[in-house]
Amino acid sequence: MKLAIFGASGRMGQAIVRLSQAEPDIQIVGAIASPSDPHLGRDVGELSGIGTLGVEISSDLNAGLLGADVVIDFSIASAIHPLLVACEKHGVALVSGTTGLDEVAQARLLQLSKKVAVVWAPNMSRGVQVLAEVVAHAVRRLGLDFDVEIVEVHHRRKVDSPSGTAVRLADAAREVRGELVQVRGRDGLVGPRKPDEMGIFGVRGGDVIGDHTVHLIGESERLELTHRATNRDLFARGALSAARYASGQGPGRYTIADVLGS
Ligand SMILES: NC(=O)c1ccc[n+]([C@@H]2O[C@H](COP(=O)([O-])OP(=O)(O)OC[C@H]3O[C@@H](n4cnc5c(N)ncnc54)[C@H](OP(=O)(O)O)[C@@H]3O)[C@@H](O)[C@H]2O)c1
Repeated sequence: MKLAIFGASGRMGQAIVRLSQAEPDIQIVGAIASPSDPHLGRDVGELSGIGTLGVEISSDLNAGLLGADVVIDFSIASAIHPLLVACEKHGVALVSGTTGLDEVAQARLLQLSKKVAVVWAPNMSRGVQVLAEVVAHAVRRLGLDFDVEIVEVHHRRKVDSPSGTAVRLADAAREVRGELVQVRGRDGLVGPRKPDEMGIFGVRGGDVIGDHTVHLIGESERLELTHRATNRDLFARGALSAARYASGQGPGRYTIADVLGS
């Protein structure tokens, strides 16, 4: 599988380059970064600490995708539109883990999926997929007497809030209780909690890779369902599995559940 990486010099981009070296069927053919990236021109393998790969980090999207079967994107929401155009132009499947995408970007992903395979997942880990399934089950079993609130904790450099994973978990709750309305934090004289509220809170600090807790709070008892990521290699491995999956698929919009075969 010939792989390009968009956001190649970032934390996730480097993790993917590093881990892909243990996968003999994967060849990195393109490494794309922003036009102002200080690492432009450097070898992506050297930047990632695995030695020379012969692939320079470049901001030239078209050159970076040339010859690729799949591109893995971990960048920022504002950078994704030109990537989608280039994927369509070159017929390259897309695996994106970038969070904070708005409705326009989601609609464009759907449009692209009519031409190539597209996997977008706000969390590439098996554990979070299972957590979402457990949340849906718990919300169904506990019923209307339990309030649902979500707290996520991430490192101080994260730029979007709430996390895409928190929104994914909120969606899992809403699949069962469609009346739930997201409340993004509370401040001031907000009054008593309404039954259809679902608070989502983002905590930021230090180097936390990503913790998510779904609180299910009833009278005299409560459940706290938590996932903690302790190493971002977890997400990089998931993205590589998704890339392998996407390279074998025709056009379509696929989820991490499809990749994991659940
Ligand atoms: N789905 C998951 O499992 C998962 C897991 C972890 C993270 N994420 C998400 O993945 C994204 C990246 O996370 P990260 O921790 O790797 O962040 P990061 O270290 O900040 O990396 C993002 C990279 O994107 C680059 N970029 C910005 N504009 C670009 C452009 N126009 N073209 C190409 N590259 C561009 C940035 O380059 P400059 O610094 O030069 O701007 C940076 O190197 C975030 O949205 C995060 O929430 C998802």
